[in-house]
Amino acid sequence: MKQNEVISYYNEIADKYDDSRFNNTYGRFIDAEERKVLDEIIDTDSDRMRLEVACGTGRLTNYATHGLDASCEMLSFARKRHSNVEFREASATSTGYENSMFDVVYSFHLFMHLDLDTINEIFDEMHRIIRHGGRLIIDIPSHSRRKLLNHRQQTWHGGTELDENDIEQLVKDRFKLKRSYGIMLLPVHKLPNWMRMPLLKIDSRLANGFLKKYSSYLIYELVNQ
Ligand SMILES: C[S@@+](CC[C@H](N)C(=O)[O-])C[C@H]1O[C@@H](n2cnc3c(N)ncnc32)[C@H](O)[C@@H]1O
Repeated sequence: MKQNEVISYYNEIADKYDDSRFNNTYGRFIDAEERKVLDEIIDTDSDRMRLEVACGTGRLTNYATHGLDASCEMLSFARKRHSNVEFREASATSTGYENSMFDVVYSFHLFMHLDLDTINEIFDEMHRIIRHGGRLIIDIPSHSRRKLLNHRQQTWHGGTELDENDIEQLVKDRFKLKRSYGIMLLPVHKLPNWMRMPLLKIDSRLANGFLKKYSSYLIYELVNQ
């Protein structure tokens, strides 16, 4: 897939993104799960320089001091939402930030849309802009789960899936895997709306037990080497 195609897509849907993806019980479930992990990893007192890559409309940018996205339309919503954050329109492959500038960088729902060459380029760039010992937090759909369910995405949208050992191989010599978190083991999208939020705690526990690799997606905490 071409990067331009991805960016054009997000430019076109920017005004509907928040409402269509996150203003429903499924979106709120995912949002709460992701925040739980970010709350655990990011220390907004000691991590002084915090970048969100592919921040989109700013849904999770309250953890960041800086936000970057390649879509000007998505960014226009993030800018309105977070007046205290420094935003930049750029590609994650070439951010223009200084070497070792950030203590922590996080990025959600980006890698799943990209091919492995682009992901590799982004790892290079993140390795450059994160300080030694700083962290990179990313998420990616589970290959094991999709294989088990015989599920294949037909388009670039959410088309990339990996397992923990694939990630470890990919980031080798740049990052070390510190921890992974499973998100959504139960098929929440198939449950009735009223059951979703009450199941949050149970699902978190299940998704982080021995079935973790079968969660819908995993969040990886990586340490810059
Ligand atoms: C699914 S949205 C996720 C937005 C936000 N992270 C969230 O979870 O709500 C994907 C975002 O990635 C951005 N994006 C795609 N390719 C990018 C690239 N190469 N560099 C920077 N941003 C990119 C898009 O513009 C879009 O805002």
